[in-house]
Amino acid sequence: MSSDNTNTIESVLQEERIFPPSVDLASKARINSLDTYQRMFNEANRDLETFWGEAARKELQWFEPFSKVLDWTTPPFARWFEGGKTNISSNCLDRHLDGPRADKTALIWEGEPGDVRRFTYRELHQEVCRAANALKAIGIGKGDLVALYMPMVPEAAIAMLACARIGAPHSVVFGGFSAEALRDRLIDGEAKAVITADGGFRKDKAIPLKSAVDQALGESACPSVTTVLVVKRTNESVSMEAGRDYWWHELVANQNTDCVAEPMDSEDRLFVLYTSGSTGKPKGVVHTTAGYNLWTHLTFQWIFDIREDDVYWCTADVGWITGHSYIVYGPLSNGATTVMYEGAPRPSNPGAFWELIQKHGITIFYTAPTAIRAFMKSGRSVPDNYDMTSLRLLGTVGEPINPEAWMWYREVIGGGRCPIVDTWWQTETGGVMISPLPGATPTKPGSATLPLPGVDADVVDSEGNSVSVDEGGYLVVRKPWPGMMRTVHGNPKRFRESYWEFLRPSDGSFIYFAGDGARKDVDGYFWIMGRVDDVINVSGHRLGTMEVESALVSHPAVSEAAVVGRPDDLKGEAIVAFVTLENKRVASESLLKDLRSHVGQEIGPIARPDEIRFSEALPKTRSGKIMRRILRALASGEEVSGDTSTLEDRSVLDRLRA
Ligand code: PRX
Repeated sequence: MSSDNTNTIESVLQEERIFPPSVDLASKARINSLDTYQRMFNEANRDLETFWGEAARKELQWFEPFSKVLDWTTPPFARWFEGGKTNISSNCLDRHLDGPRADKTALIWEGEPGDVRRFTYRELHQEVCRAANALKAIGIGKGDLVALYMPMVPEAAIAMLACARIGAPHSVVFGGFSAEALRDRLIDGEAKAVITADGGFRKDKAIPLKSAVDQALGESACPSVTTVLVVKRTNESVSMEAGRDYWWHELVANQNTDCVAEPMDSEDRLFVLYTSGSTGKPKGVVHTTAGYNLWTHLTFQWIFDIREDDVYWCTADVGWITGHSYIVYGPLSNGATTVMYEGAPRPSNPGAFWELIQKHGITIFYTAPTAIRAFMKSGRSVPDNYDMTSLRLLGTVGEPINPEAWMWYREVIGGGRCPIVDTWWQTETGGVMISPLPGATPTKPGSATLPLPGVDADVVDSEGNSVSVDEGGYLVVRKPWPGMMRTVHGNPKRFRESYWEFLRPSDGSFIYFAGDGARKDVDGYFWIMGRVDDVINVSGHRLGTMEVESALVSHPAVSEAAVVGRPDDLKGEAIVAFVTLENKRVASESLLKDLRSHVGQEIGPIARPDEIRFSEALPKTRSGKIMRRILRALASGEEVSGDTSTLEDRSVLDRLRA
């Protein structure tokens, strides 16, 4: 956390518009009024353990009951539902097989070329069992970490559920990350196997994946990986290494369609998912079995007020937490129909999303503000061509949504009748923390509104004291919750320091802070103001400035690099890099291109700087610290305000300005 960041917390204009829940929606909703919400909220706050204990007993199936709801004796290391044994794959599948849900569609998948696959709960259960047996056949067992580097195909969800079924934690690596980034994650997690595909379709192109796995595993870089399972998707030719690589369709097809789910301890690891922080390499966020299952199950139920006949679609990729929690686990645990789409809107099909809504009669649509802003830019004539009257509820996630985009979403996509749930959460929180409840919470465009029951969220100053109404501060959570991350893989110290020690109130309590600034208005509504640490949010994707800097300085021409975010109308934030070159290297258009592609190779295309500025020197304090505040102002074309007296060499600033 750099100390010069607090100046980004500033009040924003008060939004006056309020949209109450429709009477029709409220009359049918589980949580049907603000009073009901408030009662639940107060109950949870008064007695956290009774609240979550009852919920866990009611909402999940257990092989063995838990004996203790919460152990918080060694904060910040929480243990939830100890003594209990359960399995999330069985909660997502087996429990729906006894009644009519067995033949209900669990998953509708649409590939970018328009191929469609559907699975009922019974079929999905069979596929998952087959895959689980295949994993066992290649020697994967309880506790072995399996990495997934997949396109958006049903096998990605099937593989996750198969891992969970046999107690092998998964580590999904977004298919857009480079071979280098994959390698780092395989090494850090000591993965035993990798599940991948020959490639996937994206924007009318086949994107290779298996070749990146080969590259990541090259030169015996990841000795822990013994097996690679390859799904055939694009039919591109790939090289298969004998004894290491197997085709999914060959290995999985002949397996038995029954595989008893492994009874897992509540606190057994379910998955590791890497995310960027303000320092060092990405952190492996660890989530465990029961708490995460309960959190994704219940939040999904509350936020989308899910009904038996809903067709729900979340546009995220399973490589991110949103895909884990709200394409796979939350929806399936509730017996919902979840849609998965391989593609994205593209020039050849700008109406791809709306076509899918029309075609599959989607009722709930959950996407990112960045997508909404892009649609807004190309105008309503595209969505207006489609019948989207099936929609009843809209959601957003990943970054702050500006009121204009919120209004456009409501009017143009939601036909003015669908409530919007703006859901604030993080990889670390496991599931949604702050969000409207569609039958209860009046919404204000741009506000994530109120914390869910059991979430003791607040906005505080650097001493951990609540700030006044409409004053900016740090967004924190004061009490543990079942879906919280348990640790950083292999680095409990980093977990403690990154999330729980930045703010230490004088009473010694532990409060969770993970990098966002916010303010609370007079109604207690939260307005998220974005990251206040050195993390940038590019189109809803989280990137550490340090990661991009390390990638830049690993290029032989670069001596030093500093990376900052600049507000961007479309992406939320754009990446701006200030670079000084090694002696004798000269700035040129071709070097610029080279640096961008180098970052793409080191991390992935999402991390390529939007702008690179070559500079003779960077603004530093006398102790050698780069003054990012100054660079942020320069990148956004703003006046450099605040104290610049600590600058070692003031002429640097003048030269940068010039
Ligand atoms: O800055 C917040 C932003 O996304 C960050 C979390 O990123 P990640 O772990 O990748 O998870 C993204 C999907 C949950 C947060 O620290 N963020 C997420 N949702 C919102 C948001 N910012 C404002 N409003 C939101 N609804």
